[in-house]
Amino acid sequence: MHRRFFAPGALVAASVLLAIPASAASSAPGAPGIGDPYYPAYGNGGYDVSHYDLRLKYQPATDRLEGTATLLARTTQDLSRFNLDFLLDVGEVRVNGAKASFTTSGEHELEITPKTPLAKGSDITVVVRYSGVPSGEQAYGFTSWHRTADGGVAANEPEAAWWWFPSNDHPLDKATYDVSVQVPDGTQAISNGTLQSTSSRLGWTRYNWRSNKPQATYLATLAVGRFDITTGRTESGIPVVNAYSKDLGDNYNAARASIERSGEIADWLAEYFGPYPYNALGGYVPNTATRYALETQTRPFYSPSRFASGTNTYLVVHELAHQWYGDLVSVAGWKDIWINEGFARYSEWLWSEHEGEGTTQEIADYVYASRAADDPFWTVRPGDPGPDNQFHIAVYDRGALALQALRGEIGDEDFFAILKGWTDKYAYGNASVADFQAYAEQVAGQPLAAFFDTWLFQPSKPAAPEAREASI
Ligand code: ARG
Ligand code: ZN
Repeated sequence: MHRRFFAPGALVAASVLLAIPASAASSAPGAPGIGDPYYPAYGNGGYDVSHYDLRLKYQPATDRLEGTATLLARTTQDLSRFNLDFLLDVGEVRVNGAKASFTTSGEHELEITPKTPLAKGSDITVVVRYSGVPSGEQAYGFTSWHRTADGGVAANEPEAAWWWFPSNDHPLDKATYDVSVQVPDGTQAISNGTLQSTSSRLGWTRYNWRSNKPQATYLATLAVGRFDITTGRTESGIPVVNAYSKDLGDNYNAARASIERSGEIADWLAEYFGPYPYNALGGYVPNTATRYALETQTRPFYSPSRFASGTNTYLVVHELAHQWYGDLVSVAGWKDIWINEGFARYSEWLWSEHEGEGTTQEIADYVYASRAADDPFWTVRPGDPGPDNQFHIAVYDRGALALQALRGEIGDEDFFAILKGWTDKYAYGNASVADFQAYAEQVAGQPLAAFFDTWLFQPSKPAAPEAREASI
């Protein structure tokens, strides 16, 4: 019975399709996610952003953020509509100059329907006017916008952008940024890259920042508050800009004594990883109650509490190591987080050896021995930890143990050639754990599948690595 009614319906649909232009007939909505199995709703399908221009105004007294985002993008399919990831209130959207209709769905989707469908391979300009109070917005029950006594800051991983700009929020879609933010005179706005200029009028100061190399959305940051700003240059010539909230209390000096060494540390890391990949460097410490740090591109975010015991150059080494491992070469999917955290932790071990506080082998032996075989630590698989364990200590410590074991397996020469060659091979792009294994096998000239399986994928404690034969 039903079947008989379906047949005429199908004919009607077919005749409607025939009545509209061929290009539009094949256009379809862009997917609401980019296809990451850990986070199916993150990012979007159907286009690729090349540049974000954010022109904003922020009032610390009310936590109100407003402005315009202009996205330069290219379509990768015929599109009837497409999504951005965003949480604030949208007033108007224009695509290629024409007003587009829009609606919201899910936890953080902004669905945009352009006036006319977009053909695959076309350059498009998307303008989004918006406003809102970021601290009032949650997704999945959390917020990545941290309001402070004198402003606010957007920093988190994997999600931070939703609270301050509409984006294709996944590391697979990297882009350059101009971030221009107007704040009341006497307050500063800190972001990534180079401070191109500042200007003042009518009681407001505008800060114009530019990040001119591909940058993942979670590595874009904005902090507003009252900061002391220091400037300098690394020995290798990179301009350094650091910012310390005036409100760090007891942690101020230790934070500053640590982060002022960023230039020295970046130059030291460059010996292992190749030339520093950006034209700006620094760090900033807002007066947040958060406890983490984040490798926001060119200018990491540091929580004040991380300096409560005194200087913490290990943390600076960690975040600056991410400038290569995470920022220059970004994960292809969030399951590849070992590519970031295993290497950043291993860099801390190299720094320990450099500082005379224990060699990499001594630390590896200690970490290995301190975790009994029945410690749940060993059930976490650093090569694919799952979204709930993405930042589990095992991704860091077992991840670094894997690197020390690899070094023993293939020898120092190949190991350090890989550390440097990898960042060059995948510079400004994305790569996976599988890509790393393939590259290591190529450089070392030996199969390593069993090795990586043992160290990154088995939910159990690997047998102690044998010391490399002295004769080799
Ligand atoms: N990539 C950061 C780091 O290792 C980790 C951030 C963890 N995120 C969080 N919300 N705790 O420094
Ligand atoms: Zn890290």
